Amino acid sequence: MTRPLQNRRILLVIGGGIAAYKALDLIRRLRERGAQVRPLLTKGAQEFVTPLAAAALAGERAHTDLFDRAEEADIGHIKLARDADAIVVAPATASLMARMATGEASDLAATVLLATTLPILIAPAMNVRMWQHPATRRNLATLKGDGVHVVGPNDGAMAEAEFGPGRLAEPAEIADAVEAMLAGDDAGSGFGFLAGRPQNPARPLAGRRVLVTSGPTHEPIDPVRYLANRSSGRQGHAIAAAAAAAGAEVTLVSGPVQIPDPAGVRVIAVETARAMLAAVETALPADIAVFTAAVGDWRPASVGANKIKKDGGDPAPLVLVENPDILATIAARSSDRPTLVVGFAAETDDVLANARRKIARKGCDLLVANDVSASGGVMGGLTNTVHLVGRDGSVETWPTLDKDEVGRRLVARFAALLPA
Ligand code: CTP
Repeated sequence: MTRPLQNRRILLVIGGGIAAYKALDLIRRLRERGAQVRPLLTKGAQEFVTPLAAAALAGERAHTDLFDRAEEADIGHIKLARDADAIVVAPATASLMARMATGEASDLAATVLLATTLPILIAPAMNVRMWQHPATRRNLATLKGDGVHVVGPNDGAMAEAEFGPGRLAEPAEIADAVEAMLAGDDAGSGFGFLAGRPQNPARPLAGRRVLVTSGPTHEPIDPVRYLANRSSGRQGHAIAAAAAAAGAEVTLVSGPVQIPDPAGVRVIAVETARAMLAAVETALPADIAVFTAAVGDWRPASVGANKIKKDGGDPAPLVLVENPDILATIAARSSDRPTLVVGFAAETDDVLANARRKIARKGCDLLVANDVSASGGVMGGLTNTVHLVGRDGSVETWPTLDKDEVGRRLVARFAALLPA
């Protein structure tokens, strides 16, 4: 049986942090999946693990110092930057991320990362306050904008007896993300219904129009109350941002959310399902329409003109009527139906069976199904585990990823599916 990373060559940059010891386990996990791993340790990393240990586990020499004459003569930093299929940085410390974001070439790791055109995956790990600092947020946004893939960090207890995001993703999660990154780079090389044309990697959606719905809807009961749901809008906004970064002209129709508008996107803010449908219809035509919004299925049959008061008797019954189905309405349009209509399926049970029924019922081309049961923390959370369901019932399951990363990969896939 071929292993998922068979013959893939990974340059593993190990940064200097307490989590560096987990990079040793990562070497094992990657090799178990068939990869060849070449370790590169920063000076800081060598305070936590030895090059000898990394080399022994990798079965390859470990690289350490930019100014080692013997090493430069032997392989050289430019060759290191090219001679692999991907670069993984684990743990990616705050300092390494900062050097990558500013393009500093102050040591071997930073020089290789600056000199490379290979896909890069970083697995950040640092103190929770460092992770949450605006400087790290800025660096992360810059790196994502540069196309760097990110896995983790996870929530958990930290070395300094603090709790929060900052823990290195588990080695198996990082290995999953490497697989997904390399699979994404191979998009078009054989996923059946999902296969598409090869893309221009820089701006695959240049000249295309993309429409995205996002967030919850608010369905008023009276002037001060409404029906809503837990959607944060993060996934839809991430898709809109990724589509804009891929060169598309993007319209984002969003329900009420607490997150900033993505850069370079036209945003139409709405409250109700009916207003969302009207805004979507006005925004057509589009090449791709992605219906990420958690649209309220029902609205109160009548909206009180004034605040409904307690009058001492039984509460007034809340009578609901069904909202229009925006996705199904657009997918059924005859004249200006978008070429690619993508739905989402928020399910709490029987995710795949329900998703398969839903794609037929809604008439979309592709359905992105996710489990939104409370235990998964998807609704309102930062990560998502999605299954791509095709019209023929085929399913592709992706590892749990940051919603921004899901957005980028979905956009790459949509671009591959559009006819030239
Ligand atoms: N959707 C929509 N308009 C609606 C309801 C849903 O456009 N009135 C879209 C969502 O944006 C999503 C897809 O339909 O892309 C599926 O949403 P979901 O809530 O999972 O499905 P429902 O149609 O609400 O079905 P059910 O509640 O029975 O699961």
